[in-house]
Amino acid sequence: MTRIVEKFAELPKFLRKPLWQWWHRTMNKYDSDNAANFMNYGYESLNGDPRLELTDEDEVDRYCIQLYDHVVNKADLKGKKVLEVGCGRGGGASYISRYYKPEIYIGMDISESSINFCNEHYNVDNLSFIHGVAESIPYENNSFDFIINVESARVYRDIQAFFNEVYRVLRPGGKLLLADMIYPHEIENFNKRIDKAGFKRISEKNISSNVVAGLDKDSERREYLIDTKIPKFLRKSFKTFAGTVGTSRYNNFASGRFQYWSYTLEK
Ligand SMILES: C[S@@+](CC[C@H](N)C(=O)[O-])C[C@H]1O[C@@H](n2cnc3c(N)ncnc32)[C@H](O)[C@@H]1O
Repeated sequence: MTRIVEKFAELPKFLRKPLWQWWHRTMNKYDSDNAANFMNYGYESLNGDPRLELTDEDEVDRYCIQLYDHVVNKADLKGKKVLEVGCGRGGGASYISRYYKPEIYIGMDISESSINFCNEHYNVDNLSFIHGVAESIPYENNSFDFIINVESARVYRDIQAFFNEVYRVLRPGGKLLLADMIYPHEIENFNKRIDKAGFKRISEKNISSNVVAGLDKDSERREYLIDTKIPKFLRKSFKTFAGTVGTSRYNNFASGRFQYWSYTLEK
């Protein structure tokens, strides 16, 4: 199981959707008090930025929230139309829709059970969720001002189709705000696909050390959740998936073998 987590992107593409569905169903089953609303590695600022102000309720998810906040990169989302592709359990969608006040924020995911979870769990006026796939986005051309994508794109069945679809549904001048992990040898090809879709690359940053700093601070919480909720035989794979200190995933980020990048891309 741990090998499957480590080699997910190298598995046959037809296995990805069922594996995501299995993963979400497993989380729904074991996380009965809905403590895990994020599925990303998190982010910690390393240059003395002012500490992000969060409500007491959001404080527990600080590092995962900080990754979303870094991706948004102070863009003015107020009154804008925003779509998130690959919203997972909706924690980022909830944070951005409450703190950045877009006119509408739609979270979309390939997993029906994660969308059912989100629809039952969140009650925010401007926020809604739909089931859909990144390679065929169910909206008209020029529908959105911003599209957000956190830790999801790299493993899509057809990443070029995803970039083309995002370009199609963004209005001219609209932005794709994206962060994901990637092997250094994959970056050139990733960038070629971005360019081929027609995007202008406004910013691209290697944020691996910020992600490692986030994991250093958040590992204890992640381990506690896994140790108290997940059956023993699945704990090692969950910890690898969660990137806790000492796992192969964490060590790969720390050594630079696996990197984490954020992008601002403009149509
Ligand atoms: C690592 S999780 C990240 C979730 C969320 N962005 C977060 O940071 O908490 C990746 C998400 O992408 C979703 N996903 C994977 N392939 C997808 C696709 N082709 N279309 C839409 N969502 C997809 C998965 O179901 C999963 O919820």
